[in-house]
Amino acid sequence: MTQDEMKKAVAEAAVEYIKPKLTEDSIVGVGTGSTANFFIDALAEIKHMFEGAVASSEATAERLKGHGIEVFDMNSVSEMEVYVDGADEFDSGLNLVKGGGGALTREKIVAAVAKEFVCIVDSSKKVDVLGEFPLPVEVIPMARSQVARELVKLDGMPEWRQGFVTDNGNLILDVHDLEIMRPKELEKQLNNIVGVVTNGLFANRGADVVLMGTESGVETIK
Ligand code: 5RP
Repeated sequence: MTQDEMKKAVAEAAVEYIKPKLTEDSIVGVGTGSTANFFIDALAEIKHMFEGAVASSEATAERLKGHGIEVFDMNSVSEMEVYVDGADEFDSGLNLVKGGGGALTREKIVAAVAKEFVCIVDSSKKVDVLGEFPLPVEVIPMARSQVARELVKLDGMPEWRQGFVTDNGNLILDVHDLEIMRPKELEKQLNNIVGVVTNGLFANRGADVVLMGTESGVETIK
């Protein structure tokens, strides 16, 4: 099985997983990235079973609309049964690193509203300790250098994702060389740096369930 085949399989499994939770009034939160794209394509098959979606990025909104799925503004939604999104890394505590696609802030907002966060990954995303994947940090443009200096003090090696602007008009610093032993604490510490919008650690609101595509099928990890 290729990595893409695993992503597709896990995306289809996610649709089966959420189906019993949906009513005609349900709003589905939808993540960003290649695995989320497979999910959107599979979700389109059951679009008659729910009202619409909230998107975690402009790219996701476009793909949803392309399938004829109504996209709601986050501010008009107060309840969301489920949020489905990929990740760059996850550990045994279902803490995540996200933001490889740069959509971390909107992803975190949608995840915060959802009753259940279903994370969909292929098996390459499983790690013992988070941090091998450079941790994305979204920063206000004028704070880029100052935030980078603060990240160095925390023993990280920030790298400016050149030529990339987030959907919110901000920049991304990808922080290398972090061995994240205490994800909840680090998530809060990074968010306390002036100029940081948010960071890609999803630990204080991690996943509720991870569906992982493997060579031998999809595993459910709770
Ligand atoms: C985007 C994300 C994605 O979920 C993450 O990068 C995984 O992407 P993919 O499914 O393409 O491997 O956080 O900001």
